[in-house]
Amino acid sequence: MRIFLAGATGAIGKRLLPLLRKAGHHVVGTTRSGAKSAALRATGVEAVVVDVFDAAALLRAVAGARPDIVMHQLTDLPPGLDPARMAEAGPRNARIRREGTENLVRAALAAGVRRLIAQSIAWMYAARPQPYTEADPLDIEAQAPRAITVAGVAALERLTLASPPLEGVVLRYGHLYGPGTGADRAEAPALHVDAAAAAALLAIEKAHPGIYNIAEPSGYLSIEKAQRELDFDPSFRLNALA
Ligand SMILES: NC(=O)c1ccc[n+]([C@@H]2O[C@H](COP(=O)([O-])OP(=O)(O)OC[C@H]3O[C@@H](n4cnc5c(N)ncnc54)[C@H](OP(=O)(O)O)[C@@H]3O)[C@@H](O)[C@H]2O)c1
Repeated sequence: MRIFLAGATGAIGKRLLPLLRKAGHHVVGTTRSGAKSAALRATGVEAVVVDVFDAAALLRAVAGARPDIVMHQLTDLPPGLDPARMAEAGPRNARIRREGTENLVRAALAAGVRRLIAQSIAWMYAARPQPYTEADPLDIEAQAPRAITVAGVAALERLTLASPPLEGVVLRYGHLYGPGTGADRAEAPALHVDAAAAAALLAIEKAHPGIYNIAEPSGYLSIEKAQRELDFDPSFRLNALA
């Protein structure tokens, strides 16, 4: 299939590229940087330089890629989630979830894309007995600063799931760790970045439209749906690939 990977240079995007290529997909990957686009091309990826907030350029980029699938792996977070920069990152990341997703959905619809797979997070559930399942409500009554993140997540998920005829798949990822994340472990719900990338590939091949919790097993989150429907394996690692 032809895949438009928005966020090809991000923590998950980087680990996803080799999986997509190994599965035989043709990838058009995005970055805002000319230097990073050259690096993408050097690894055999068709690269396009585009800012998701430039709606007209994004429309052209997606149309030119003629994708079957748009993969949304965009975030706007500081490297290693630097605590000193997280307060200003919240509103920026919410903006990319809201306006970036809106622009991506518009471009996907205009290009006749079949499926949109989008990165979300798995720790925005409203407090109730754990483990949380995908059917549990988001914490939309949260106070700031959490409220900013919840609103961004809710917008991203609504746009992804309710933009027919696009088939929307939302991957609610746990806290990332592993190469490129700046962390070698994470609190529950934890998720190795390679397993996050593998789940994105499985979402192309196996997911039904809807939401999937993607993390390691814990008392916090149920991942039963992803294990049953996607054969999601939280212990997957890239270096185990033949
Ligand atoms: N679930 C989680 O725990 C989770 C999820 C995601 C990230 N993180 C953490 O956040 C930190 C930073 O993540 P990251 O390294 O993936 O970097 P990032 O700065 O969040 O960027 C992610 C991707 O989004 C793209 N992007 C950002 N703004 C864009 C825009 N306006 N238009 C187009 N593309 C845009 C970036 O492309 P360019 O910069 O190349 O243009 C990059 O490909 C890491 O420590 C990571 O582990 C955690």
